[in-house]
Amino acid sequence: MQKNSMQKIKIITSTVREGSKGISLARWITDKTKEKECFEVELLDLAAINLPMMNEPYHPKLKNYQFNYTKKWSKTIDEADAFIIVLAEYNYGMPAAIKNAIDYLHQEWQYKPVAIMSYGGVSGGLRSSQMMKQVVTTLNMMPIAQQVNIPFFDKKIDEKGVFQPDEIIVKSAEVMLAELEKWSEMMQCMREGR
Ligand SMILES: Cc1cc2nc3c(=O)[nH]c(=O)nc-3n(C[C@H](O)[C@H](O)[C@H](O)COP(=O)(O)O)c2cc1C
Repeated sequence: MQKNSMQKIKIITSTVREGSKGISLARWITDKTKEKECFEVELLDLAAINLPMMNEPYHPKLKNYQFNYTKKWSKTIDEADAFIIVLAEYNYGMPAAIKNAIDYLHQEWQYKPVAIMSYGGVSGGLRSSQMMKQVVTTLNMMPIAQQVNIPFFDKKIDEKGVFQPDEIIVKSAEVMLAELEKWSEMMQCMREGR
């Protein structure tokens, strides 16, 4: 397989509430991902992107977007080769904000890998993660098996709001990123018919 240039990785938060803690984790995994030279990394904070509830009149498959915010979101996701979703768990499921952001688009997600970094209480966001897999596979995305799941994550955020991972989290993030690199290169070949 011919090795291609830099893989574009977009890291997406999943929550938008005032004082959301997911952004601390997202910043940490963004910095960690930037350590890998093969990745060009961008953090997409859904709170800042501020998409309304999905209100496009046509099915996203048609790409007949009416609103500028959708066109901008489409361009952002289209240029990505792979994703990391920093996923909270709300009521044993995925937060509405990330489902909404996914539902806006269709072709832009196709044949791209997604790594999940979930967080929560005792479950570490695993139920949310399982739900996410069902949704992303419908869009022909590949949710990679190697995940980072963080139970009692808030105990690892210091008084300055900075996430302080333990050794197990660091190791599992490294394993996840190594796997994401493989899938990202392979699925780029798939999309380009190589
Ligand atoms: C509406 C709501 C529902 C929640 N449901 C769960 C849950 O099912 N499982 C869990 O582990 N934590 C749950 N929590 C606690 C969250 O893990 C915690 O508040 C976390 O900080 C949410 O992510 P955020 O700060 O990025 O919004 C819930 C929190 C909220 C606000």
